[in-house]
Amino acid sequence: MIIGTGIDIVEISRVKNACRKWKDKFLKRIFTEKEIEYSRQKPFSFQHLAARFAAKEAVLKAFGDGFSKRVEWTEIEVWNEKSGRPIVKLYGHLKQLKDDRGIKDIIISLSHARNYAVASAILIAEG
Ligand SMILES: CC(C)(COP(=O)(O)OP(=O)(O)OC[C@H]1O[C@@H](n2cnc3c(N)ncnc32)[C@H](O)[C@@H]1OP(=O)(O)O)[C@@H](O)C(=O)NCCC(=O)NCCS
Repeated sequence: MIIGTGIDIVEISRVKNACRKWKDKFLKRIFTEKEIEYSRQKPFSFQHLAARFAAKEAVLKAFGDGFSKRVEWTEIEVWNEKSGRPIVKLYGHLKQLKDDRGIKDIIISLSHARNYAVASAILIAEG
């Protein structure tokens, strides 16, 4: 049963500027090591970082009240399966919220072009 959906669009230049201005401080506050490593090995790294930022926002929107609680950005992590399909892992407070709500799966999808990255998230619960 679908119990939540979220979508977000991010301007890639904003992520690029924040990375250039705040350097590691911004990167490490928002992204996990795995996300940084994945993006760095791509020719257009900022597209992938921006898509991961959009994915985090989309997941929070899908939870609905995710914003009102204290959530660290790194509690939401995007991985890629061998096929390239993205999956999301949750940690800390958000993982607890996921378990409390009986959410068994979170389906995400990402896309990026020259200027924008988008992501959607769908929460699936038992039943
Ligand atoms: C996967 C595919 C649809 C991506 O589309 P695209 O227009 O090139 O690029 P987009 O910007 O729209 O999407 C890129 C995102 O698609 C997602 N993606 C990649 N492979 C995927 C897959 N197999 N299933 C679902 N999502 C996938 C990733 O999240 C990627 O972003 P990321 O690298 O930052 O994580 C495209 O590469 C394709 O059609 N491939 C042919 C099928 C294929 O080769 N499948 C893989 C083997 S099963």
